[in-house]
Amino acid sequence: MNVLIVGNGGREHALAWKVAQSSRVGQVFVAPGNAGTAADAENVDVAVDDIDGMVRFAKSNNVDLTLVGPEAPLCAGMVDAFEESRLRVFGPSRAAAQLEGSKVFCKQLLRNADVPSADFHVFDRAEIATRFIMERYPSETDRVPVVVKADGLAAGKGVIVCSQREEALDAIERIARAREFGAAGNRLIIEDRLDGQEASVLAITDGRTLVTLPPAQDHKPAQDGDKGPNTGGMGAYCPAPIVDAERLAWIEEHVLVPTVHAMKRGRTPFRGVLYAGLMMTHQGPQVLEYNVRFGDPECQPLLMRLKSDLVDVIEATIDGNLEQLGGLDWDPRPAVCVVMASEGYPGPYQNGKPIRGLDEAARLPGVKVFHAGTSLQGDQVVTSGGRVLGVTAMGATISEAKRQAYAGVKCIRWDGAWCRKDISDKALLATP
Ligand code: AMP
Ligand code: GLY
Repeated sequence: MNVLIVGNGGREHALAWKVAQSSRVGQVFVAPGNAGTAADAENVDVAVDDIDGMVRFAKSNNVDLTLVGPEAPLCAGMVDAFEESRLRVFGPSRAAAQLEGSKVFCKQLLRNADVPSADFHVFDRAEIATRFIMERYPSETDRVPVVVKADGLAAGKGVIVCSQREEALDAIERIARAREFGAAGNRLIIEDRLDGQEASVLAITDGRTLVTLPPAQDHKPAQDGDKGPNTGGMGAYCPAPIVDAERLAWIEEHVLVPTVHAMKRGRTPFRGVLYAGLMMTHQGPQVLEYNVRFGDPECQPLLMRLKSDLVDVIEATIDGNLEQLGGLDWDPRPAVCVVMASEGYPGPYQNGKPIRGLDEAARLPGVKVFHAGTSLQGDQVVTSGGRVLGVTAMGATISEAKRQAYAGVKCIRWDGAWCRKDISDKALLATP
């Protein structure tokens, strides 16, 4: 069968690489893809947000199965459009993708389903949100442990974690008055700030049955020790020992299952990858957010460890047959993914820097370099994004996987390349 993967990041390169390993798969297309997917699959020049173009391509190129990687086309209804054209597609409908596309939808569903999550208030006017903060925290010196969030999609930037009143007022200003995140700020949420370590627990569901994947941990801040501005994710590893088997079972029972049931009851049944971003608090795990797709970069170490055929799982999900599939087979070895980024990221950066050493890195045992922000200029791979590569490796232990991933990083250079040096160190501190 021929498979189309929609997207152009590290997640989509990992999906293309994994899908291509299936004995049932002929051609793998990636739209629009990057320099890495051009090597492991075939790139197609259709933009991620071009729903009609994507459907047309699938129809005219005998695509049997489409996987939608990023949230924006899911929230815009790409899956619905494929289904209307009777094309097989993996991912949630537009209505179900609201779980990520609207934080208000998500929080209300969590509250109704009794899933543990921070207490919250919804506002559609800046003045009322400002008054709420001023009344709740009358003194300027009060500690103000709140998080202010734009309701809609904001490319991971619409969440502002606050400690002081000034920060909260400024966040309201940016989201609801200056409209820094556009229409995503039509409504905003103020919620209690939770403390603890974060973990990502992903599950694949057909709307009734859940297959939970091993827990992973992302590293969102730019600098070592989780300092500096937030990014799309500077590295990930899997499994994350902070979520041991007992805790994972608890999360399945108290978080994932009630969410899937609530989606079904609300007539927005969820089919696809349900990704819970969780905070491990003293009161137990609590949901920070849901994503409706694989995480990037969590997808890279996860798929490196998956031994089962991903296409089988995806087809069973589409057909509503997950119950019959049984469990998935995982490589027991941990995997670590280190993201290499452009100078200046997550702020402004330059593109077009030639990347050297990719072949050398590819020769290291157990290492796979997933491309994110890369493109081809002739035969030369150049940078074309903030997060450029995800150097991923497996090892007998997390420390060995880390050592091998950084051995890969060492082979690769371009002008201004940098990465965090401490990806996966959190695992060594973790006590579930
Ligand atoms: P979200 O897009 O909702 O996951 O938010 C992005 C990041 O903001 C999360 O990964 C957390 O680091 C942080 N965050 C979100 N909600 C909270 C909260 N209630 N308490 C503390 N941190 C939060
Ligand atoms: N790794 C976080 C995300 O994919 O949103």
